[in-house]
Amino acid sequence: MTTLTKSKQSNRNLPIGDVKFWKKEEFGISGNTAVANFKLTVYREDTIRVQVSKETYFSPNPYTVIQDPQTVDFSIKEYESSVVLQTDKLKLELGLSPFTITYYTLDDQVINKDDAGFAVSWLGTEVSNYKTVQENEKFIGLGEKTGGLNRAGNAYTNWNTDYFAYGVNDDPLYMSIPFYIGLHNKLSYGIFFDNTHKTVFNFGASTNRFVYFSAEDGDLDYYFFFDDSVSGIISAYTDLTGKMEIPPLWSLGYQQCRYSYYPESEVLTLAQTFRDKKMPADVIYLDIHHMEKYKVFTFDQEKFPDAKSMIKRLKEKGFKVVVIMDPGIKTENGYLPFDEGMEKDLFVKYPDGLVYEGQVWPGWCAFPDFTKSETREWWAEKMQFYKDAGVDGYWTDMNEPASWGQHTPNLIDFSYEGEEVSHRKARNIYGFQMARSAYEGSKLQSPEERPFILTRSGYSGIQRFAAAWTGDNVATEDHMLAGVRLVNSLGLSGVSFAGYDVGGFAGEASKALFARWMSIATFSPFYRAHSMINSNDAEPWSFGEEVEEISRNYMKLRYRLLPTLYSSFYQSSLDGLPISKSLAIDYAHDHIIYDSAFQNEYIFCDRLLIAPVESTKEITKVYLPEGDWYYLYDSRLHKGNQVIFQDCPTSYLPVYVKAGSILALQSQIYNTGEKNDGILRLHIYKGEGQHNYLHYEDDGCSYEYLEGDIFKRNIIWDSDSLTLKFEKPEGIYSSGYFRVKVYCHGFDAEALHLDKNSIESQKENVAFLDRLTEFDPLPDNLHDFHESKSVATFTFDHVKEAFELRFT
Ligand code: NOJ
Repeated sequence: MTTLTKSKQSNRNLPIGDVKFWKKEEFGISGNTAVANFKLTVYREDTIRVQVSKETYFSPNPYTVIQDPQTVDFSIKEYESSVVLQTDKLKLELGLSPFTITYYTLDDQVINKDDAGFAVSWLGTEVSNYKTVQENEKFIGLGEKTGGLNRAGNAYTNWNTDYFAYGVNDDPLYMSIPFYIGLHNKLSYGIFFDNTHKTVFNFGASTNRFVYFSAEDGDLDYYFFFDDSVSGIISAYTDLTGKMEIPPLWSLGYQQCRYSYYPESEVLTLAQTFRDKKMPADVIYLDIHHMEKYKVFTFDQEKFPDAKSMIKRLKEKGFKVVVIMDPGIKTENGYLPFDEGMEKDLFVKYPDGLVYEGQVWPGWCAFPDFTKSETREWWAEKMQFYKDAGVDGYWTDMNEPASWGQHTPNLIDFSYEGEEVSHRKARNIYGFQMARSAYEGSKLQSPEERPFILTRSGYSGIQRFAAAWTGDNVATEDHMLAGVRLVNSLGLSGVSFAGYDVGGFAGEASKALFARWMSIATFSPFYRAHSMINSNDAEPWSFGEEVEEISRNYMKLRYRLLPTLYSSFYQSSLDGLPISKSLAIDYAHDHIIYDSAFQNEYIFCDRLLIAPVESTKEITKVYLPEGDWYYLYDSRLHKGNQVIFQDCPTSYLPVYVKAGSILALQSQIYNTGEKNDGILRLHIYKGEGQHNYLHYEDDGCSYEYLEGDIFKRNIIWDSDSLTLKFEKPEGIYSSGYFRVKVYCHGFDAEALHLDKNSIESQKENVAFLDRLTEFDPLPDNLHDFHESKSVATFTFDHVKEAFELRFT
């Protein structure tokens, strides 16, 4: 009888029910209902953790959250039917009959509310949290998810999936980040559901009653963040799950990949071609054909008989080399990694102890259990093989983990740091742990150098260890724009360093498409072209002279922009905010930005507005949000809060500079190892108010920056007093710049003068060198800039002291 009732129960929804008992704790509130225990932890003033479990314990998640709860003042008030917990930032009302949670602002506006009927419920082992939809509520984020910027009306699954040539609305893809941001009534909040099982986020697909998130099993364990701004929420989320480290400078350069470049002579010719053609580039990838029969930690002796000297020659040409590492280890006796893995018991197994085998490139493979530290350490040691060859960076691919057939059996066992769990719980974290192992391996092998790891699969927190790219896209216009949204969505979800395969991995890009893609990706944090085996050549010179010229111009611009870009990476390593910002970050409550015509626009490095547009269009509509905007190429001013029509031939991607801002450029270099001319170009755009540029430099490769070996200075442009203020720099690194050229845009150039007194009084600190007549801001063929009449230029010594320049 009992069994029957139980099974009947598991076929229907089981809500959490009434609170039977609760008590105030040092951390918040704990309690139970007839079916579950719960724990509400005040993590910070703006962050509450909610844990609900049908078990007698709450399961740990050892991978994602790296911040401990902080000691925070909060009050608890008891009412007849509820308990209200209040911090300095928010109120949480716990309804007692039944259990429901509602979050309020301090002035009692509802931020987020459980559905009164279902709140937290179970269907068998599946746990869900149902939430009421607020008026016009929008949902953004959720990491690597296709679809529109506003996710309302759609549902998504998190189940890391190897998905060749996915469609622009397909789901799930390779990476799971169960974190989203809700927006309504000028309020914003975030929810991070930290459960690595397969999860579903339904933002109103096939129902108008609620939105919900659910997990196939495990606890309801989520963090609720509240802040006035989307930025504040992302920062709080990345305080919890970690920020990206400053990557090596070379990884911000242009990267060239193909599945696969071989043999050695082809790779060397490729490198030389970039140099001969004067197209800036920093990185060449070795995809799976570098290996002997696709066996990791080997080089194919025919294709790469002497990888070490090839890599040495590439380095002499100013290139870094990144190799692919797939997790699958060929189950071949005598192949050392397999033998060792067996001997040390490092592979994933069936519950009866037999090693699990799945097929990938090398044929039948065993899979290292990266959810145990011994395996990660072993892998890290094995990476000595690549270190000895001179490899600089690592690309962890196929780490969902992928296997032909795409149906890894759920019963296989993983350690999960000793918890011993099945594939159901481990899959979504596997790729993250492989990338982590690669990061640790890179550090083990080259302790002085910052690792560069590129990963396909991941989970919340992956930003601490790796950059991400969006897998096997297709050479279509739709994909080009979808890639921008994916990267921006990753950015909303803590992953700042992300990109897509420029040109499309599968299929053939048209000339115009490739050119446009190269220009858009100039403004992507990660800038790499990649294409698949048996497709046409897809290097930037393979599409004819015009495309080569456009590509070169934008690649050159990317390198000119490096001072700004590197400073933005630094900033992001501190605040966790993306480098490529969806307009939903700074203009969250402007409904126009969610319009399908404008949802791909974004702000790059906090000062450039990028409006990606299909290569087939010659004219496009661009929405300029609040503020004023200068067209990059001719400094023409446009008012914000309006839609404009913009010409967009493939040679000119619509890009605008925010009025009032400072854009820092350097002279043209062709790889990041080259020295610039020592002159920092500051482009100042007339506007209103004060704008800040935090200029950052370090050696670009080591961890010395942690010891203060940095050059960091705030440069502030005050549009009202026409003052450019250089604060005293911090750090002991000597700046690579000895001079500053200031270009003032949007002014009457003839009438703009330096206030002589301002210079006179600071003579000790700064020498005004010259009023310039020439303009050199952009690469050759983006030349309208040169003709701009409104640019006045001045040159100064770049000194270590604080100084101020006043214009009149
Ligand atoms: C799948 C990856 O997504 C792709 O980028 C790579 O080229 C192939 N695997 C071959 O390694």
